[in-house]
Amino acid sequence: MIDQGRKGESLRKQEKGIQMTLFDYFADTENFTLKEAEEAVVNVHNKDVQLPSIRARIYEGIEQGLFTRVARGVYSVSKGEATCLLINGDGRNLSFIKDGSIDFIITDHPYDLISNKGGNRDFASYECFRYTLEDFKEKKRVLKNGCFLIEFLPDKNEENRKYLNDIEDMAITAGFRFYAIVPWRKGQFKANTGRKVKDRESVVFFSKGKARSLRRDVKKDIKEPEVEHYMSGTKKMLPPEFVHQPPCKSERVHRAEKPLQLLEEIIELVSMEQETGLDQFAGSGVSGEAALKKGRNMILVEKDETTFLNAKKRLERQK
Ligand SMILES: C[S@@+](CC[C@H](N)C(=O)[O-])C[C@H]1O[C@@H](n2cnc3c(N)ncnc32)[C@H](O)[C@@H]1O
Repeated sequence: MIDQGRKGESLRKQEKGIQMTLFDYFADTENFTLKEAEEAVVNVHNKDVQLPSIRARIYEGIEQGLFTRVARGVYSVSKGEATCLLINGDGRNLSFIKDGSIDFIITDHPYDLISNKGGNRDFASYECFRYTLEDFKEKKRVLKNGCFLIEFLPDKNEENRKYLNDIEDMAITAGFRFYAIVPWRKGQFKANTGRKVKDRESVVFFSKGKARSLRRDVKKDIKEPEVEHYMSGTKKMLPPEFVHQPPCKSERVHRAEKPLQLLEEIIELVSMEQETGLDQFAGSGVSGEAALKKGRNMILVEKDETTFLNAKKRLERQK
């Protein structure tokens, strides 16, 4: 999962050195920060080693079980065969993930539009941004061929229309194919603000190139019953809509929290057990809980420290 693929022998040796330095310094330590790790490596190697490279070695150390309790800002939880890595960091910087190593991305980015203010989607407390083409190039780089990128996006209105169109265009320009949009209808929930009563968001599916073959080809199976046949597409045909009630205020840990069952349904449609997903803007950590419940590995990134700690608490309960 960690980026080592295209590196030369000497760089690999240096990185082995980084890993050992971290291990020597911190193996018996409960907690250390990325800053402390950087200082330790720079002191020993006496040169400027890039922080993403050190970070990548830390995550690798966690995956290999070298640092099980390591690093404020990085938390790992396992359930059965599946592991979820929760990182307090910038989800737009995927430099620690190697090319073509992720089986699905599901994410819900905090976009800044006037129409987000007011009602239930007041994002004033979040750091918000708008996607750029570079974001989609990075998503494409880390995904395996044929795999799905799923973006939660709002219902279209006069103000966000252009940005939503731009998002689709950026994804296509970066090399994705548009696969489908499925509305998520929020059960009984209705927001009575703006021009139209709102009870849904869009779940937009893209694939990296032609969609992978997850769906059984029943016709071919009947013709040739001794072999399992698959055709391009999600495991089952996508439904006309997903219907799940959002978690109520007293249950949720994040104001934009998605229902667990919705994430479970989507993860099952686009991936197989033991595969690895990524949520770059994790919020409550619900995608991590859903992945663990479905036996998938997950990498979650959340920038805000308080939100990260809430997600960590939630994931701790999954052990
Ligand atoms: C819309 S919320 C995600 C909610 C999540 N899907 C859930 O169901 O709980 C977006 C989250 O992204 C976080 N965020 C903002 N900028 C970020 C960044 N550059 N990297 C990682 N997380 C970021 C915000 O703090 C916020 O918690």
